[in-house]
Amino acid sequence: MIRCWRLDDSRQTLVLGSHNDHLAEVVYWGPRLSDTENLTTLYQAQVLDVTGGMLDQNPELSICPEATRTFPGQPGLNVRDTDGTPLLPKFSFADAIEEDDALTLIYKDQSATLTYTARFAIDGQTHVIDAQAGVSSTRPVHLHWLSAPVFPAPQFSDEMIDFAGRWCGEFQMNRTPWSAGIRYRNNRTGRTGHEHFPGLIVPCRGATNATGHAYAFHYGWSGGHRMVAEELPDGRRQVQFGHASRVEMAAATEFKTAKLYAMFSDDGINGCAVAFQRHLRDRIVQWPDADRPRPVHYNCWEAVYFNHNLPELKDIAERAAKLGAERFVLDDGWFGNRDDDTTSLSDWEVDPRKYPDGLTPLIDHIHGLGMSFGIWFEPEMINEDSDIHRAHPNWALGGEDQILGRQQKALNMALPEVRDFLFDRIGAVLRDHDIDYIKWDHNRVLPMPDAAQTRGSYALIDRLRDAFPHVEIESCASGGGRIDFGIMERTHRVWLSDSNDAHERLKMQHNAAIFLPSAVTGSHVGPRECHTSGRVYDIRYRSWVAAQRHMGFEMDPRELTEDEAAVLTEVTTWWKDNRDWMTTADILRLDSSDEAVIAEQQLSRQHDRFVVFAGKAATSSQIAPRPLRLTRLTPDAMYKIELKNREEIHHLSRGNPLLKSEPMVVSGAFLMNHGITLPWSFPDRMWVIEGTLV
Ligand code: DGJ
Repeated sequence: MIRCWRLDDSRQTLVLGSHNDHLAEVVYWGPRLSDTENLTTLYQAQVLDVTGGMLDQNPELSICPEATRTFPGQPGLNVRDTDGTPLLPKFSFADAIEEDDALTLIYKDQSATLTYTARFAIDGQTHVIDAQAGVSSTRPVHLHWLSAPVFPAPQFSDEMIDFAGRWCGEFQMNRTPWSAGIRYRNNRTGRTGHEHFPGLIVPCRGATNATGHAYAFHYGWSGGHRMVAEELPDGRRQVQFGHASRVEMAAATEFKTAKLYAMFSDDGINGCAVAFQRHLRDRIVQWPDADRPRPVHYNCWEAVYFNHNLPELKDIAERAAKLGAERFVLDDGWFGNRDDDTTSLSDWEVDPRKYPDGLTPLIDHIHGLGMSFGIWFEPEMINEDSDIHRAHPNWALGGEDQILGRQQKALNMALPEVRDFLFDRIGAVLRDHDIDYIKWDHNRVLPMPDAAQTRGSYALIDRLRDAFPHVEIESCASGGGRIDFGIMERTHRVWLSDSNDAHERLKMQHNAAIFLPSAVTGSHVGPRECHTSGRVYDIRYRSWVAAQRHMGFEMDPRELTEDEAAVLTEVTTWWKDNRDWMTTADILRLDSSDEAVIAEQQLSRQHDRFVVFAGKAATSSQIAPRPLRLTRLTPDAMYKIELKNREEIHHLSRGNPLLKSEPMVVSGAFLMNHGITLPWSFPDRMWVIEGTLV
């Protein structure tokens, strides 16, 4: 007997089907099918042929491929009895629960020990499908691997794109050609990591940012993921995502994957990006006050590091407020004896040497300047040199002789007493002061990955969020080491990178936009001489790069010349004037005809205005700038186009493209097919072009 189910939105259809009560497989996923499509015929039509040297029938590439059905690739589940004996389930259909936009499939194994459940939900507006799998058992078992429901990857695709990175170099795109075998990522660091952002894009042949078919995946979990992108000997391809393997330490009767977010796009990688951006901003992040405009940040880290001095901080705050900051974030150094990074993590009490009257005088001063106040914590960490470590050495995760990371250990977040302690200490700081923001850091990898650690961290954040619902949280882990939709269910901003180098940031922001909307992506104007790269950049470039996302400053404002302060104030004012629509705009990565230009178009929800940021990241190979083609405009509508920062045109730019001298009105067709002729410029400059529908 053949059973089939379908989930649709306006642009895609997902069809699942199975025969003889076997586990279902995705038999179609792509552009929307007609309502009249006969799914049984479709199931039969997609069955692959066999020839010599093959089994007499191809084992199904199911949502949880089973080792017991001669599946030629990686199975979706690896589970063992408590004595280590592998359990080799063969599942058969038990039930299907069909809702309007969701489908739950339930299967039992032949010995009735294990139950496998998969749930798919489709969001008709954002076009994101979330898929989650669970296994329950009648007796405790050990889980080595459980994949979220397995999706096929398209055959008409030559390569896949996943993401790597490092400290100060997050979101680097890797392109790997499809070939027989596996592209395997198994992140055993215990956190999402700079190195292993859990995302995958599978563009179909010829797809670009703006056109073509593309599939995308993101695994929403902060404890490290495993990805298997495998091409089977018969040519089929499967994509598995789950927690890193063997991170469940204890035998248990229930296991669940995190949500795998997946979608098909018929308008290029931007179709995936817009879906992820909207889904994250509008569905996942729980904003305390969704209507509150994103405040301009000032963060004092790169200004003072651990040298907290009240009069100095007050002076810095005054200058930051004058430049346009609306929230002051007091970074590391305010607690214990924290004069450097060797000491005091976990001693979350205000340092009386630096703040003899507590934090209140500083906070009052900051409020008096019209800014709100945020504060840094690194809750999951402990220094050996801390009162808490001396009192509770057993609270630390991992062996005594472990290699430290930034001189620190992680706390064992699975212990309820650790979570209670942190809740009390952090809660006391939040209760005693008017604080609306936490920068929540996590500066080392775990000594060993453990899913219970991630669940413990989530539980603590959730409890604090319940108790202090007005407090927003920024997820930071030495910059972008903990960015994923799991942490974003409970936080509101990410610190994309510790690199405030505008050149590096431009590249990272461009790639991160495939997953992250501007509302959650922090970006700060750093010091004139960048502390992490040694490069020196003009304030204009630094300011415009920060203005692409949730803007802030992080330099010591006392270093600013009059001209620099004026430029920064002006760009900040521009950002504030535009943030309302930019916060909900779609970030569209432009297909630049010049490799040196990294460009994006932020298009308002109503499609009535946009801004293009065209960053020149290198010198071009050709001498004159190539036109930059825009996207998603209405071809026969007219747009007024204006170069916002015309005063930055260098005298070596000697030609007369109209854009250089005045606003122009041209059609969407012209902008999308010919493109905007940019003025010539040095590298490490940004052109900002505003567009409005006439
Ligand atoms: C690492 C973060 O990424 C920085 O922004 C800063 O908060 C430091 N930790 C503080 O120790």
